[in-house]
Amino acid sequence: MNVAVPALKLLLIAGSARSGAWSVKLRDAARRVAQAAGADASVLDLRELALPLYDGDIEASQGVPAGAATLRDAIAAHDAVLIVTPEYNGFPTPLVINAFDWLSRLKDGLAVTADKPVALLASSPGALGGLRAMNTLRLYLQMTFQMIVVPQQQAVARAHEAFAADGALADAKAAATLTGVVNAVLRLAASQHAAH
Ligand SMILES: Cc1cc2nc3c(=O)[nH]c(=O)nc-3n(C[C@H](O)[C@H](O)[C@H](O)COP(=O)(O)O)c2cc1C
Repeated sequence: MNVAVPALKLLLIAGSARSGAWSVKLRDAARRVAQAAGADASVLDLRELALPLYDGDIEASQGVPAGAATLRDAIAAHDAVLIVTPEYNGFPTPLVINAFDWLSRLKDGLAVTADKPVALLASSPGALGGLRAMNTLRLYLQMTFQMIVVPQQQAVARAHEAFAADGALADAKAAATLTGVVNAVLRLAASQHAAH
């Protein structure tokens, strides 16, 4: 008997919203890899959450902005998450951190991140490809958010030279690494499904 297995749902997030962002290009390349692996891959634009910079006075007077609940619901609706962070002075961008800080202020915000598989990528025109930011983001997501960050990760250096015309990573070894990262988080999500 054939039993249809629903496609795994992967949520992809880029830590920059600017037009032409390398992290968006890498997010989209990762999305195509996930789709080729049979996943149902969707994108969340952090800018569209319209979250103000975290401010306790805003929280006290207006509550947590609706964008935080949008992020919470998107994470809850997916089996796994993939985040591509740029690097600002060695750290992940405020766009990423601020969104997750707001998420942590929701009563049930941390319940949706706990045990959720997540894969990390970074991109930068620089020589390290955002490696420092990615490693910091790993700690951040593991500690309070209790996400399961897969060991496989990738920092794409010299991002302005890294992409082929079709949007894939031009270097075959880099493309294979990206496939490995995406497959790792999908594998973890699949094993969670199998265990439940
Ligand atoms: C405030 C700021 C700090 C930056 N610090 C770093 C850094 O520490 N390391 C790095 O590789 N690039 C750094 N950059 C350059 C970014 O990698 C570059 O602007 C990149 O294109 C941003 O990512 P995006 O293309 O996804 O928007 C910095 C850029 C800004 C605006």
